Order: sequence, then C-alpha cells, then structure tokens
Amino acid sequence: MTTLFENIGRLVQVERTIRPFVSGADMNILPEIENAYLLVDGDKIAAFGPMAESPAEADQVVDLGGRYILPSFCDGHTHIVYAGSREHEFIDKINGLSYEEIAKRGGGILNSAERLHNTSEDSLYEQALERVDEMIRFGTGAADIKSGYGLSLEDELKMLRVIRRLKESTPLTIRANFLGAHAVPARYKGNQTAYVDEICQEMIPAVAEQGLAEFIDVFCDKGFFSVEETARMLEVGARYGLRPKIHANELDVSGGVQVGVQYGALSVDHLERTTQAEIEALRGTHTIPTMLPGTSFFLGLPYGNAKGMIEAGLPLALASDYNPGSTPSGNMKFVLSLACINMRLTPAQAINATTINGAAALDLAASHGSIAVGKRANLLITRPIPSIDFIPYAYTTDIVEAVMLGGEFYGE
Ligand code: NIG
Ligand code: FE
Repeated sequence: MTTLFENIGRLVQVERTIRPFVSGADMNILPEIENAYLLVDGDKIAAFGPMAESPAEADQVVDLGGRYILPSFCDGHTHIVYAGSREHEFIDKINGLSYEEIAKRGGGILNSAERLHNTSEDSLYEQALERVDEMIRFGTGAADIKSGYGLSLEDELKMLRVIRRLKESTPLTIRANFLGAHAVPARYKGNQTAYVDEICQEMIPAVAEQGLAEFIDVFCDKGFFSVEETARMLEVGARYGLRPKIHANELDVSGGVQVGVQYGALSVDHLERTTQAEIEALRGTHTIPTMLPGTSFFLGLPYGNAKGMIEAGLPLALASDYNPGSTPSGNMKFVLSLACINMRLTPAQAINATTINGAAALDLAASHGSIAVGKRANLLITRPIPSIDFIPYAYTTDIVEAVMLGGEFYGE
C-alpha cells in the first residue's frame, strides 16, 4: 500500500543523511522543503522532494492543499501507567504545600503506588490506553513509558506487562523503562538499603529475564535515591542489558547527571537545577540532556537552563513527563510553547528537541524523529497554519488535522 501526499506547504525536518542528534548552533536549523511531496510505502517513508518531482501515482493520493507535515513527536519521558488521578494534591499545592512536603506526608508517588496495588491489570491497561490515544491525537509517535508506581516485584511486573500490552496493541512506538527506584515504599521506611537490595537482587533480574524493559531509571535526587545507590542499581542494570535514562537534578543539584554520564545513560532528565559542572560533565558524551518544562510549569519549579546547554554546544531534548503528580499532560505542542515562552528557545530549537533529539533520547534516531527515506512513516499533518512559528505561538490552538503512524492514518 502506497500513500502519496501532494501539495505539502512545508515538509519539515527532512534529512538526506540520518543524523544521531542535533546539537549546539545546529539546533536552530530546521531543514524543510516548501511545496513538497511525500511518498509512503507500507510503514516507511519511501521518497520525498519538491512537488515538481512528485511521482504522481500511488494507491492513495492525498492533496494537502498547503498544509504542513512534521515528523511525529518523540516523547522520551512519561509515566502514563497509573491508577486514577491526584487532583487532591493539586489543591494541596494551591494551598501552599510543596511537591516534597506532599511526598513526605505519604502523598505523591506512594499515593499512586497504593492505588495501583488495588487496581486490576485490565483496568490499568484501559486507563493507560486512553492516555496513549490522547498522546497520539496530540501528535506523538514514540514514547518512553516508565514503571515506578509498583514499588514491589509483583506490582512493578504488573505495570511492565501493561506497557508490553500497550506496545502490542497500539501504533505508538514504545520503550519500556523499569523505574523500581522511584520512591522508597512504606514497608522499607528507615531501611532504604534493603529496598535497593531488593531492586538489585530480585527486581532487575526478573524484569530482564521476562524481557519486560529496555531501560532502567532511578530518581536520583534529594529525599529519594543517592548517587551511590544510583550507581549500584545502574551497575546491576548494565549487567542485565538495561540502558539507563535517569531522573536527575529536579529538586537539588544531586550529582545525578554525573552518575548518569558515568554509566553511559541515554539521557539525564529533568535538570531544573544545573550548574556549569553538569554542562561540563555532559560535554563530549552521548548522553542527551532532556528537560521537562511541563513539570516546571505545573509545580512552579525553575525552568532548566536549556539555552545554556545549547550555547555550550550540547544537544537538548524536551519531553512531557506525563504523570499524575507533577505533570498531568502529555501534550507535546504545549511543551513546545512552554519551552519557547519560558526557556526562550526558538521554535526551531524546540521542534528539534521534540523530534530528532527526542528520538535520540529513546535510542530511536535511526528510525524516528525526522522525515528520511527508510524511517517509519510517523507523521503529524497540520491544519492550515500560516507558519511553523504559529505552532508554539498559538499555545492552546489544536493544529493537528491528522496523524499517520507506521503508514496508517490513526483513528480512521
Ligand atoms: O518525573 N520526579 C519524579 N517522578 C515524577 C513524578 C511522579 C509523581 O509525582 O507521581 C516526575 O516528575
Ligand atoms: Fe518523571
């Protein structure tokens, strides 16, 4: 089955040679073709170029009448398998409690863990499926999904099986991330080392043996897991082939970036609090700094120094962090707006950060994140819009007209 798109006003983020990521000054360049065609064959991009060179024939021809095509967003950080929602804590925050204070009172991650424990696997799947559907409709085509609301062997495996089911039953490209070290469960209060032992000795081997995750994550931050504990878990994870992508520097300058780099992390995420030392630690490595402006927006935290990272020549990815506590939204277009408005990124930098660099943070840059021959046909087709800059500018306007994932129109 071939689909030919004709009269594309702008075909955005095109690549003739596939790059692993874009960094520094290159992040301000968004390669595009004005008045273009794009041919999809099966689930892959087969050809593209100026409209004058269109092959004109295909099983299905779609005239876009000047609408734009972008590659689907790649969201390198989500926690969308959870039970219920936590708007009570939203009210607590409005009334003055901080994220850390809520967590200390047994709210936060532990609250979600208790609910998840009491929710059936089928119900968890149904709830997460709705969020996947929502993310796809907002234009996302690939995502990392973390466990981390189980905090026991049984419940972490339950979450990871739900993620596997989402992988098998939806067109979203999913990477599963084992986040047993998201918080210390109540039964280990005062004996955190014993929980780290359980993660290293029981959880990681079981997750790896059942082939339930590609990645391993640790919340390496003040009040959660230390650098030493993180190193121990990443070490064991590496022995089982789990690549790190970690939570670092959200609540404090935690040392998480350095330990992530030391263990070859694919990405270090959050980074609301970073100094020159973190920038130096990332320089020359393959670890992608990933920022989550939705979290800063929702929790009232400082925004990460995205511009500083780019000016230092680093690549930068942006992700949603979709979760019930700190970011109840998976809307990557809103992430673009937040990054432009609050981090002063240009639209080109923000779009690079949510497409090609998001793919890099998922280890998917060979197949996702740009319009390139041979890549998966994951496409966001816009409504009529006046410019690319309009996308982050019109911060609540829905600009998605249609979505194609793996060569098929979604929702038709
Ligand atoms: O990335 N920071 C740690 N974990 C999530 C929040 C999880 C929750 O509050 O449920 C985050 O923001
Ligand atoms: Fe997170």
